[in-house]
Amino acid sequence: MDEKLWAQIDAEQPVPAHIQERMEECRKKRMILPEDSLIKRPVMVEGIRKAGVINTGVLDEVGKHIRAGMTTQDIDDIVAEYTAAHGAICAPLHYEGFPKSVCTSLNNVVCHGIPSRLIKIHDGDIINVDCTTILDGYYADASRMFMIGNVSDARRRLVEETKKCLEIGVAAAQPWATVGDIGYAISKYAHSKGYSVVRELGGHGVGCDFHEDPFVAHIGKKGSGMVLVPGMVITIEPMINAGKAGVVIDPYDDWTIYTKDGSDSAQWEYTLLITETGNEILTY
Ligand code: MF3
Ligand code: CO
Ligand code: CO
Repeated sequence: MDEKLWAQIDAEQPVPAHIQERMEECRKKRMILPEDSLIKRPVMVEGIRKAGVINTGVLDEVGKHIRAGMTTQDIDDIVAEYTAAHGAICAPLHYEGFPKSVCTSLNNVVCHGIPSRLIKIHDGDIINVDCTTILDGYYADASRMFMIGNVSDARRRLVEETKKCLEIGVAAAQPWATVGDIGYAISKYAHSKGYSVVRELGGHGVGCDFHEDPFVAHIGKKGSGMVLVPGMVITIEPMINAGKAGVVIDPYDDWTIYTKDGSDSAQWEYTLLITETGNEILTY
């Protein structure tokens, strides 16, 4: 039987009884629970995991080639070529009208930068490359920062502390914790380092579609928001600004998000599976 058919059958299986029981306890405490459709069955997880391996490979490939003097279109070419060579699809291309295969966000660009022949990467720049791969209908989403040549101490610190924010978020993403626990942990750390956290954009459920519930804010209150049930697949992708938290959208392309005050911004993203004992990173 072909894999996609098998996955459909598997998706019909109910959520395991011991998990349903625990969800019922949470519901009695008036906590917010995911729909059963957000709890991935094992064969779906297998599909997302495979998409994740290719997605990680795309980012590794970018890492091998990215350098000063390239344009962000060159990054798009690398992503498009590697993805196609592995039988997969770049999710950003034509997603809600997005014109390219990957997001490339330089310095004061927070996210959703559009690759262009006109945008050159310079020595001292920091750039986020955000890739989402579709394989056999399953999605995996991750992004990394790259530091180009001689980067200032301030930029290096921003990039490294933002990665720390992601790792702290992952540590908080425990089964039966809540989405609010993730945002609380990330924002507490970011603020302690003198940075601000972008509020308008966040992580999300992912796997059977590009953006699923829940919205994973990178700020939050302990114990608030949706319960993290084993089988959920989410991204955590903090956008951390050196200056103030405010952002603006490019009025011409309607995609590129900049910091309002022109300060630098960094972002790292993983897709992770909530398991019964912790979590598993599916692409990084
Ligand atoms: N990859 C982004 C995310 O992490 C979404 C990009 S949407 C696009 O959710 F259209 F700009 F590609
Ligand atoms: Co992404
Ligand atoms: Co994402």
